[in-house]
Amino acid sequence: MTQIIDGKFVASQIRIGLKEEAEYLFKLTNKKPGLAAILVGDNSASKIYVNSKNKACNEVGFHSVVKIMDSSTSENELLDVIQKLNSDDEIDGILVQLPLPKHIDEDKIIEAISPQKDVDGFHPISFGKLVIGKETFYPCTPFGIMELLKYYQIDTIGKHVVVVGRSNIVGKPIANMLVQKKEGANAIVTICHTASPDISYYTKQADILIAAVGKANMITQDMVKAGVVIIDVGINRIEDANSSKGYKVVGDVDFENVKEKSSFITPVPGGVGPMTIAMLLTNTLKSFKQKMNIK
Ligand code: GUN
Repeated sequence: MTQIIDGKFVASQIRIGLKEEAEYLFKLTNKKPGLAAILVGDNSASKIYVNSKNKACNEVGFHSVVKIMDSSTSENELLDVIQKLNSDDEIDGILVQLPLPKHIDEDKIIEAISPQKDVDGFHPISFGKLVIGKETFYPCTPFGIMELLKYYQIDTIGKHVVVVGRSNIVGKPIANMLVQKKEGANAIVTICHTASPDISYYTKQADILIAAVGKANMITQDMVKAGVVIIDVGINRIEDANSSKGYKVVGDVDFENVKEKSSFITPVPGGVGPMTIAMLLTNTLKSFKQKMNIK
């Protein structure tokens, strides 16, 4: 029997816990965890993400600031905003929604965020700590995947995890998290990517397959072995004449067919996606507690 991994449910449980903890901490300190999200330009998917993050913050009782900046914003203007947020005592987490307009150097922007407020876990200091197994802010999507594996008690020790995709946001961090000599990890990890001549050679060996490529339905039934655990990180829009919006959202995995062969599988939507925001809030609360010196 295939079990569908219900990320929406797990994320809602996490959010309930965060709300309770934020209420308790407010009574204790009279302060709220604060998150600032910056959106530059008018990418429609990014607007939806930033709005969802803002709504989620309000629901759990965090302080939330959204800064919407014009697509013509210069790199220096954006750096100025980040500097102000770095020294704003009401802000514990700073998130710059990616991608940024082409004229802005993404690396420079990420490096300008104070590592103490790097709730996205994208700063080289955060990422370096992750790689060497030190306590840090974990990037939210990989962190969410780790939580889902834990919640469903999916064993990773000595299992072959195949990650398809080598992005800095998902592929590289999740591979590095799963390879750690730590509880919930200890896996054997392979990363394959666009330069891999035959991706199915690797995916067929996976006990756990993590697809994070951004190509609709690219993982098909013939590419996996029976009993595989499927974690689908893809969020792809494809045309759908039956939908009023004219499109539907699908993952990187051909869900209906691959489902038959898998032991666990995340749906899209409702799998990994909702976990990303839950972990962003988790990181923001962690940053607030670090600032307040609360264990
Ligand atoms: N763009 C796509 N995913 C993310 C994310 O997790 N954080 C930010 N800041 N931008 C993104």
